[in-house]
Amino acid sequence: MSVRHFTSIRDLNREEMDYLLATARNFSEVAQRRIRKVPVLRGKTVVNLFFENSTRTRTSFEVAAKMLSADVVNFNVATSSLSKGESLKDTLYTIEALGGSLIVVRHPSPGIADLFAGWSRLPIVNAGDGIHEHPTQALLDLYTLQQHFESLDGLRVCIMGDLLHSRVARSHLFAYKQMGIQATVVAPPTLLPRGIERYVDKVAHRVSDDLLKEVDVVYLLRIQHERQDKGFIPSVREYFRLYGLRLDQVMRANPNLKVLHPGPINRNVEIDEGAADWDGTLILEQVENGVPARMAVLYWLLMGEKAGQPEEALHADAS
Ligand code: CP
Repeated sequence: MSVRHFTSIRDLNREEMDYLLATARNFSEVAQRRIRKVPVLRGKTVVNLFFENSTRTRTSFEVAAKMLSADVVNFNVATSSLSKGESLKDTLYTIEALGGSLIVVRHPSPGIADLFAGWSRLPIVNAGDGIHEHPTQALLDLYTLQQHFESLDGLRVCIMGDLLHSRVARSHLFAYKQMGIQATVVAPPTLLPRGIERYVDKVAHRVSDDLLKEVDVVYLLRIQHERQDKGFIPSVREYFRLYGLRLDQVMRANPNLKVLHPGPINRNVEIDEGAADWDGTLILEQVENGVPARMAVLYWLLMGEKAGQPEEALHADAS
């Protein structure tokens, strides 16, 4: 039987995207219960294999798996036999032999999730591979937007910041094409990938009040500390002056504006304190929505052909 993986948002057609978003909506109810658990994935084991630091993604996959009654193994890369020269492939085969059911992988190298998918008999979920993709982040962000806007079709989103190194932006722009979302990007030319014009409706190099009146959503990206000494921006202070989103700008913007950021945020680099803590900024809501969105992904991959309609998901049993 062929194994289904989720390594790119492009793995999903529109119907599958709608299915996952509807399933996430159904699973969100579990978090409101006194006992936050359903027996859907009893007997399954989710393995978190993170070669790069994470707060939100690793924890929310763990919470999502536990809410579905799966067991969770957080593989400790630093203390594993990888340090004795064991290869990635042999590490994967070892996890399979130990009874894992699905592997969530994060790695600093682009393409590693697809490499794992090529070797693996288990479903692989890409939790971020270098600057390539972060598909579950895009999914949870679409889910968050659906809670605030009647339709995603025609929604005007402005992505601001370091698009060149952003796996989140890459997954977003592919998803926008599927969902009919209009994309504007704002960044210094040094932080935009070559050919970006083909994927977006508008490219700008400055933030203006007019632009902030024209869009429904500002999606901010982190300025990555690890890249700041490479000459992409003159200085953090200069970046904040030209591209940091401030509360006074938000107050003059579209009155229905929402601000999103995948986290972790750098206060007073890409966003000031006032805008970060403003009511229309949905950063913690995104974190919260990461759980049902990832529950939907785990359910979809681990149920396989037994996955039913979204409204049946709460009563399913993979065992
Ligand atoms: N958004 C995101 O991927 O955050 P973490 O690096 O904390 O997982």
